[in-house]
This record gives sequence, structure tokens and C-alpha cells, in this order.
Amino acid sequence: MGDLATLLRQALDEVTASTTLAALDEVRVRWLGKKGAFTEQLKALGALPAADRPAVGARINEAKQQFEAAVESTREALAGAAVEAELAAGRIDVSLPGRGEARGGIHPVTRARLRIERIFRDSGFEVATGPEIEDDFHNFEALNIPADHPARAMHDTFYFPDGRLLRTHTSPVQIRELRKGRLPLAMIMPGRVYRVDYDMTHSPMFHQVEGLVVDEGVNFANLKAVLQGFLRAFFEKDLRMRLRPSYFPFTEPSAEVDMSCVFCDGAGCRVCKHTGWLEIAGCGMVHPNVFAAAGVDAQRWTGYAFGMGIERLAMLRYGVSDLRLFYESDLRFLRQFGAA
Ligand code: FA5
Ligand code: MG
Repeated sequence: MGDLATLLRQALDEVTASTTLAALDEVRVRWLGKKGAFTEQLKALGALPAADRPAVGARINEAKQQFEAAVESTREALAGAAVEAELAAGRIDVSLPGRGEARGGIHPVTRARLRIERIFRDSGFEVATGPEIEDDFHNFEALNIPADHPARAMHDTFYFPDGRLLRTHTSPVQIRELRKGRLPLAMIMPGRVYRVDYDMTHSPMFHQVEGLVVDEGVNFANLKAVLQGFLRAFFEKDLRMRLRPSYFPFTEPSAEVDMSCVFCDGAGCRVCKHTGWLEIAGCGMVHPNVFAAAGVDAQRWTGYAFGMGIERLAMLRYGVSDLRLFYESDLRFLRQFGAA
């Protein structure tokens, strides 16, 4: 019986070493089963003198109970840990931000376009659109830019193999609208245009809004007044505007419209290439050759047209110094314009 204490210590060690409920059960069976050490000890009692049996039996039972208690408390600990592990695996962190639906915003260029459309609609203009894939006739020929005209070099054009092209400006929509023969008219024609061009103020795809007014007795003073009125409404502040004599094959006389640079207040900076001015539009009186190509009687009708760069207007209104930011899809940039 001298080794009962040793047996008990060994049994308890095995209980402590069990890390799963299955392992613990094996230990329990091994020690308490029919061939288990404690059972063997009890069986051996019969060989002892009758007087010794009660005391020895009691000690064996005590050891057995100690073992059973250890098994029981280890079982509880292991079962508890199993539940904890299961809970941890399926845990929901209620403090995490919800997946929800983020509220989208309108892109600043679209915002500018919608603003332009609203201002012109309010003063009686209609809004029309035309195709981005154009033919030579509408983009050049009918606009008084024949094949050998040097002005074609001003437009770095993307061509398709079949000779069609990505329109380089919104002016071809003028031709499409004039050829419908509904005069007088006052309309704007916004949309995407494409040129082989890329720097701080030029992008290969950009937006223009064409303006066209044809009526009897329309003159250059009307054009200037409409542009000035529009720019005041668009910027809601008094930026200086100037008309700089220029050349377009489809208008005569022609001018370019500059706005004082908002970034340096006209002092000269990188954005305005140190001129103090940013070119935002081209304009002029519709050339008689354009009317002829579109079947409009130039004796009766006169008209003015303009083509503005929407990105340039957006840059000036929102204080964006690099036009390329509009096309990088950087949410940190876009979020500054807020939700819809
Ligand atoms: C034209 O495209 C003429 N069709 C405008 C016009 C219409 C003149 C009707 C007369 C009558 P221009 O190439 O200058 O002109 O472009 C007009 C405007 O588009 C520019 O003033 C500028 O604001 C903008 N723009 C031109 N190229 C780019 C570019 N690569 N990226 C961004 N904006 C541009
Ligand atoms: Mg120009």
C-alpha cells in the first residue's frame, strides 16, 4: 500500500495534462475502469488481514474520490474553455461601423455641367447633345476646316481606322442642330470631347459646352452680354473676364474668353502659366460658310457660338489647381465636394 500516494500523484498529473475532454475521459477510464489501478487496489483488499481492511479500504476510497474530484473540476474547466472558444470564433463586434450604404456624391465636373445647364435653361436656352464618335464632315469639313486647312493641326485628333474620329470639340453638334432647320434657336450642347493632349490644364478626354444662338439681327454685343451674364451667375463673384481676338475657321470675328486666375488673383502662377489669365472658351459670330454647309440662309440669319471647357470652369469655381485631379478617382479629393 506504500505506493498509493505515488499512484494518486501520477493519476492527478495525468488529469492536469489533459487538454481536451476526450483525453480527460481516457484518463478517467484508464484509472477507474475494470482494470484501472484504483479498482485493482480495491480487489487486492481481499488478500489483507481482516483487521487492516477497513483502514486501507478507506484510504483507497479517499484517493479515488480525490481523483474523481480532480477529473470533475478539469472537465468543467475544459468545457468552459470550449464554449469560450466557440463564442470567440462567432463573435460579433457591435462597436464596428456598420456596412450600411455610403451616400455617393456627384462628380465635380458633372456638378459644374448641371450648374451650367441650369443657368442657361433659366435664360431660355435648350439643351441638346450629339455623338462622341463623329465623321470628318461634322467635326471639320462643315465647320469650314477643309482637309488641307492648317487649323486641323490645332486639333490633335484620335482617328479610327475607318476614318471616323473622336470629336475634338462640341462644335459638330452645331451642324447637326442647324441642319434640322428649326430657326430661330438658342441652345447649349454639353458633352465629352477628345484630344491628344495632357498636362496641368489639358486632359485627353474633357468636357465642353457649346453654345449657339441664331436669329435675325444677332450680334457680337449679344454674345458678350450672354457670356458675362453666364459667368457672373456661374462664379457668383466678380472674376474679371476678357475677350482676346483669336481665330477659329467657323467663326468670324472670333475671340477667346479668359478669366482672371483664381489661384494667384491675376498676379501670375504655375496654373495660368504666369499670364494671370485662364482661357475658358472660344467664341465668335457664325461664319457664313458654316451656314452654307448647314443649309441656313446667311442673308437672313446671323448667329453667335461659343465653346467652353467645363473642367476649366470647375477648376476656377472649386479652386482646383490641377485638372488631372478630376480623373484620378481619388475619394479623398472627390469627397471634398460633398454628397449629392
Ligand atoms: C474649340 O474647341 C472651339 N470649338 C470653341 C469654339 C466654339 C469657338 C464655338 C468658337 C465658336 P478650343 O480648342 O480653344 O476651341 O477649346 C475650347 C475650350 O476648351 C478652351 O478654352 C478650354 O477651356 C477647353 N480645352 C481645350 N483643350 C482642353 C484640354 N485638353 N483639356 C481641358 N480643357 C480643354
Ligand atoms: Mg483655345
